[in-house]
Amino acid sequence: MTVKRLRLKDSYTHVWWLSKTPNPKADNRKVLLPYGKDMKSLLKSKRYNAGKRPSGHVISETGFLSNHGGAISSNVIDLESAQHVPSALLKYANTAWDAKYRAYCEENKLDLHPARMQTDLVAFFLEFLTDKGNLVLDPFGGSNTTGAVAEAMRRKWIAVEADPKYVEGSVGRFEKVERYQRQER
Ligand SMILES: C[S@@+](CC[C@H](N)C(=O)[O-])C[C@H]1O[C@@H](n2cnc3c(N)ncnc32)[C@H](O)[C@@H]1O
Repeated sequence: MTVKRLRLKDSYTHVWWLSKTPNPKADNRKVLLPYGKDMKSLLKSKRYNAGKRPSGHVISETGFLSNHGGAISSNVIDLESAQHVPSALLKYANTAWDAKYRAYCEENKLDLHPARMQTDLVAFFLEFLTDKGNLVLDPFGGSNTTGAVAEAMRRKWIAVEADPKYVEGSVGRFEKVERYQRQER
């Protein structure tokens, strides 16, 4: 029997969010993380250690007792010394998220794009920064993951891609557009 050993490794990349203005349109209430254990029990008990902190900051009786449906993601850099994987990372599994696209390319003998994005990554930013009906531009479209997710999330889109062979393959993403449901992180 031959055993093929594959070592699966996490890979990390920075995602740069650039803006033309200091205050771009963005709404982090649309991309909240599920509350942690402590916040959940706080909301349940409704009891909070209010009062003056060593910093001089005064925490009111009720300031932390409103349920906003989730928490704003923390800063990854603040968590670097923590003994666990930072919860502020956008984490996506490299699974069959674009099976339709791959099947289409295979059937039509087209090259797969070698650097495709995760659909959930696109969905996160579309949810965070846009509303239904807004126009999304991807100037380096590749296999047009952005356009496909935008279509499914009812946004308009424009994608630009220099290599026609990747544009041909991207057609496979639009044969049947299903409504996109962003996965919980
Ligand atoms: C990293 S890939 C994008 C992959 C894409 N996000 C996806 O999920 O398939 C970058 C793409 O930009 C294209 N590209 C590079 N320079 C370009 C240019 N000047 N105009 C248009 N497309 C360009 C490349 O051909 C490549 O397909």
